[in-house]
Amino acid sequence: MFIASVLGKFTTSRIIVYHCFFKRKYSNSNQIFINGKSYEVDSWTNVTPKIISYIGKNLHLQKSHPLSLLRERITNFFYFHYKNNRGNPLFSVYDNLYPIVTVEQNFDNLLVPEDHVSRNKSDCYYLNSKYLLRGHSSAHENELIQSGLDNFLIFSDVYRRDQIDSSHYPVFHQVEGVRLFLRHELFSLNPDAEGSIDVFEKGVRTETKQEVHTYDAARVVEYSLKSSLTALVRHLFGQKVRWVDAYFPFTHPSFELEMKFNGEWMELLGCGVLEHQTLVKAGVEDKIGWAFGIGLERLAMILYNIPDIRLFWSTDPGFLNQFNVSDINTNVKYKPISIYPPCPNDISFWLPGNADEFSDNDFYDLVRTVAGDVVEQVNLVDKFYHPKKKLYSRTYRIVYRHMEKTLTQEEVNKVHRLVEEAAERSLEVKIR
Ligand code: DAH
Repeated sequence: MFIASVLGKFTTSRIIVYHCFFKRKYSNSNQIFINGKSYEVDSWTNVTPKIISYIGKNLHLQKSHPLSLLRERITNFFYFHYKNNRGNPLFSVYDNLYPIVTVEQNFDNLLVPEDHVSRNKSDCYYLNSKYLLRGHSSAHENELIQSGLDNFLIFSDVYRRDQIDSSHYPVFHQVEGVRLFLRHELFSLNPDAEGSIDVFEKGVRTETKQEVHTYDAARVVEYSLKSSLTALVRHLFGQKVRWVDAYFPFTHPSFELEMKFNGEWMELLGCGVLEHQTLVKAGVEDKIGWAFGIGLERLAMILYNIPDIRLFWSTDPGFLNQFNVSDINTNVKYKPISIYPPCPNDISFWLPGNADEFSDNDFYDLVRTVAGDVVEQVNLVDKFYHPKKKLYSRTYRIVYRHMEKTLTQEEVNKVHRLVEEAAERSLEVKIR
């Protein structure tokens, strides 16, 4: 179950041995200070200094990070497909909401039952009995709806106690989407129907609708939800999907969307028609709508062939530079980086007289041809014009790195010399 493993644990209960690192570290203090605010330590406190250190890292906002590329692609999809009648994007995007939330925000507002496993100390990072690090981006639905928003996306880091392995990490990222309708908006494509079709009734709850919703309204909202998300997945992956019934405390009916990956159906997201009571709590009892939540790491791992969730935290330029693309829709396929140390060497040269015909890509191709797989990266680090010499200069940093061994400087020098010679010969540059 994806929602249970990476996205969430609303459906499974697991026993995790609970070590109170925090108490040991802070045994003589009864306050935790985070960003200038203090939190009283109590019997619920289980957040660790290590976990606190992730606050503000915001990988999803870091330039050229795969999670950031994905954020931009999802945002563009919604901006492009949904416009208001003035032609402006319908969805507003919130990508920097503060991760410390109250128990009300994370659970109560979303109708998560008092005894639900997802509230357990073994599953969440509590600052104390009142505050925790959000376990899902749904924690912000209520406040944004209350502030008057009908269509919004939330990108955020979320925190759940978990083992660390290739597909689990205690901090990961989600995007949450919400779309609400008033009656006239729901039936706007068919204004004649508006007078005769109701949104609300005092009825019974069935598998396909809530007691307060009419069958017609529930069907239209479900259709809107499924067609939006199917289009999003098609936009990102160009693949077929299937829908599976699911359960979430704050939506009914609820669904999961699955996509074929390596021959198997895999869960990508959870969604559903918002429980009317969540909207009543947010002060909009005249609206009906849908919501969805997607784990960004899982999506990015499939999209970019990233084999291990821990790589998202890598600061190795061998990882990050692979995602430094000018077009966010570039189909990057991640190539594993070596475990052996990188060996950077610079090369500087004057361009030939016809400098405007020189392209960085010519040099990159040359390096790849001459030096082959021992080159991990080539980056332009400096360029300038020398007015006296009337010449343009370029400096590139070539990072040499072998997949199976540590390269010696002597070995690197040999290859580097070959690159210099080839550049002089075929690009007519002059090594400085
Ligand atoms: N918050 C859920 C989780 O983390 C995911 C989710 C499911 C979000 C259904 C939604 C939704 O908005 O409608 O597991």
